[in-house]
Amino acid sequence: SYSFAQTIVLNADAALDVKTGKLIQPATLVIEDNKIVSLAKSNKKALPADATVVDLSGHTLLPGLFDMHVHLTGDAHVHGYKRLQRTTQRQAITGVRNAKRTLEAGFTSVRNLGAAGYSDIALRDAIYDGDVPGPRIFASGPALGITGGHCDNNLLTHEHQVVAEGVADGPWAVRAKVRENIKYGVDVIKYCATGGVLSKGTKVGAQQYSLEEMEALVSEAHLRGLTVAAHAHGTEGIKSAIKAGVDSVEHVSFLDDDAILMAKKKGTYFSMDIYNTEYILGEGEKAGILAESLDKERVVGTKQRDSFRKAVKAGVNMVFGSDAGVYPHGDNGKQFSRMVKFGMTELQAIQAATINSATLLKQQSNLGSLETGKLADIIAVKGNPLKHIDTLENVTFVMKDGKIEINKL
Ligand code: ARG
Repeated sequence: SYSFAQTIVLNADAALDVKTGKLIQPATLVIEDNKIVSLAKSNKKALPADATVVDLSGHTLLPGLFDMHVHLTGDAHVHGYKRLQRTTQRQAITGVRNAKRTLEAGFTSVRNLGAAGYSDIALRDAIYDGDVPGPRIFASGPALGITGGHCDNNLLTHEHQVVAEGVADGPWAVRAKVRENIKYGVDVIKYCATGGVLSKGTKVGAQQYSLEEMEALVSEAHLRGLTVAAHAHGTEGIKSAIKAGVDSVEHVSFLDDDAILMAKKKGTYFSMDIYNTEYILGEGEKAGILAESLDKERVVGTKQRDSFRKAVKAGVNMVFGSDAGVYPHGDNGKQFSRMVKFGMTELQAIQAATINSATLLKQQSNLGSLETGKLADIIAVKGNPLKHIDTLENVTFVMKDGKIEINKL
């Protein structure tokens, strides 16, 4: 059979070239099937009679947003011991709801860093098959970690014998776990390099995997063509992760100048969830977050924001990572204004959530900017986000893969 291309034309006040920060004003963006075929001040090509024309006057077009650290199967109202009541199946259904909210917020690509029972893989595939709406998901499956570490589950006593799926100790066990995750379809490897805020009994600043284990993990993942994300708050853990060659460090709370230099030299990306602290300290107790975690957060939040400012100033590669799932999905965009408050220009914050994230995912030739030939993941916001960054909290129009997913006009 023979099929004709479907053409969609978006007419807006402006379109942002995220690489240069230049606005194309006015902007006409032409999409054929799932690809961008032209972007200019006006359309010069003859359009087919059945082209769909969308009037987005008053709006700015941007590439679809990326969040490099989410837990779609996590519920912000269910923390601590409440989590023990949630089966993997129940978590997967939560993920269906959250994937929709994420897409509605303008995030067309996410990295899901940690999920039980490969529920993130099921969700990714269901979205890809068109069964449920949601972003493109780059999924890690269960996060790797040491026995008793941040990526284990330490809520119950030894009689219960609860061990998280991603636990592996020793270089060869770690390699085997990476291979197992790849076998079941993951796109990326996540591991815990240090303790964390929300885990019971872990020291947030203390390193967990040894450098030897991290090196084995990263070399196994890279050998198979996957990137690696390391959860790390403490300085020594951050440095070991960078030394081991991870692609991104998550959280990055306690930084020193040496760690910044190392990251710059290696080109390591930092993914810093600096909005998270507001939700944890504001709503966390009600949601079941443990008292010890709230105590840790009181130290980590402030430190992390200082570190963010330093990393931005030093020119470290930065991506947008929110840890949504700890806080409500759909509120991802709230972090933009905090990124500006703590040292980024509006353009830098937008680049973190577009072209930089696409590059970290090795998708920069398909995604991350509004350019001819790229996949049509496009959003529109009212006004000019370079002047008012919080416009990114209210996305009016979302297209993913050439399909109009949301149109609130
Ligand atoms: N998942 C992270 C952890 O438990 C959340 C850290 C949140 N705090 C922050 N200031 N970013 O360690």
